[in-house]
Amino acid sequence: MSRLVELDATGPKKLDESDLDPEKGDIAVCQCGLSGAFPFCDGSHRRTESEDGDACYRYIGGDGSQQPKTVARVVYQDGTTEGVDE
Ligand code: FES
Repeated sequence: MSRLVELDATGPKKLDESDLDPEKGDIAVCQCGLSGAFPFCDGSHRRTESEDGDACYRYIGGDGSQQPKTVARVVYQDGTTEGVDE
């Protein structure tokens, strides 16, 4: 499984002690790309549990209710493509 994720940050987020979860004493960094509190994990990764291992997904919607759509083919601006048909 994989995901196409849109991010708009143009630089790093510096973390400090205030980013620690006071209950767990740790910082969980999102690796799925779906968190509404990016770069921190907010549990949104649970929506990926039913993803097929051979498919690529794009989650549509930005209010935390993103629904997965399967990506069959990506067309780049230069006209080249990438996808399951190739
Ligand atoms: S890993 Fe992305 S929300 Fe948890």
